[in-house]
Amino acid sequence: MAKPFLKWAGGKRQLLPTIQQHLPPQLATGEIQHYIEPFVGGGALLWAIAPQFPHLQRGILDLNPELIVAYTTLQRDVEALIADLETLQGHYFSLTPGQQPQYYYQIRAQFNQQRAGFDFHTYNPPWIQRTAMLIFLNRTCFNGLFRVNSKGEFNVPVGRYKNPKICDRLNLTEVSQVLQSTRIESGDFSQIEAGIKPNSFVYFDPPYRPLNITASFNAYASQGFDEQDQIRLKELCDRLHHQGILFMVSNSDPHNTNPDDHFFDDLYGDYRIIRIPATRMINSKARKRGPISELLIMNYGDRP
Ligand SMILES: C[S@@+](CC[C@H](N)C(=O)[O-])C[C@H]1O[C@@H](n2cnc3c(N)ncnc32)[C@H](O)[C@@H]1O
Repeated sequence: MAKPFLKWAGGKRQLLPTIQQHLPPQLATGEIQHYIEPFVGGGALLWAIAPQFPHLQRGILDLNPELIVAYTTLQRDVEALIADLETLQGHYFSLTPGQQPQYYYQIRAQFNQQRAGFDFHTYNPPWIQRTAMLIFLNRTCFNGLFRVNSKGEFNVPVGRYKNPKICDRLNLTEVSQVLQSTRIESGDFSQIEAGIKPNSFVYFDPPYRPLNITASFNAYASQGFDEQDQIRLKELCDRLHHQGILFMVSNSDPHNTNPDDHFFDDLYGDYRIIRIPATRMINSKARKRGPISELLIMNYGDRP
């Protein structure tokens, strides 16, 4: 089974078993023919359901152009990508642990310099090199995160890994296989509405509404996603619902920090909302980590 090739903020790997339990039964019966994931990020659910429901036509989208460059490269040129990544990996491992950080910062600088003037719209050979650098940085940076500053520069410091798996050939090949029958689009989530087929299931995993100020790290790729966007997403869900399209939305549960905050219970009052256990950082202080709940919202199944 393919798995995420990037570590991504908000990745859903931990919650996968619970999310899978709540998928619509029409996936298994074959009634649903299309799977759409408009905030794809690292795509945890995408990879998990691909072997389970191989008949599905898939469509993914994200606002972050770096992700779209990477997904498209994996779809089109996985062998060339693996070759580039093996070169980066070979160089990294030829260095002493004392020299490796310097190499990391060199690749990071190259990645940032390339950004200005980079053609993020039309697939071309530099996309392969850029994807190799993105995966290399993601595997060797601190915490394996993608974070950019206000100028759009990737600014994560080097991580401390003894033996990072930089080029996972087998997984990249499997990822590429899944992407062969996956449509990849760049842009705002609302774009999925045009041309969506009635027998579709859409999984929305938007940037979470922050639980409090200190946990407000939801400015993915410097794209803030505010309450107006959460409302815009719900309005899209309403329109999909009226077309008979099935959807699932995940989000943070405001009750973790404020039992009187009914933002999502009110917003999605017409739909089925369940609270599932998750472990995630509420507060930057480690002692505040612990079991919390997250929301799954669906327009199918029995309401509790
Ligand atoms: C919570 S992450 C998704 C995590 C993903 N499910 C995973 O398992 O890795 C949210 C994603 O939404 C993207 N995003 C933010 N604003 C968006 C928008 N308006 N339209 C589409 N994608 C957006 C971000 O770039 C990010 O990749």
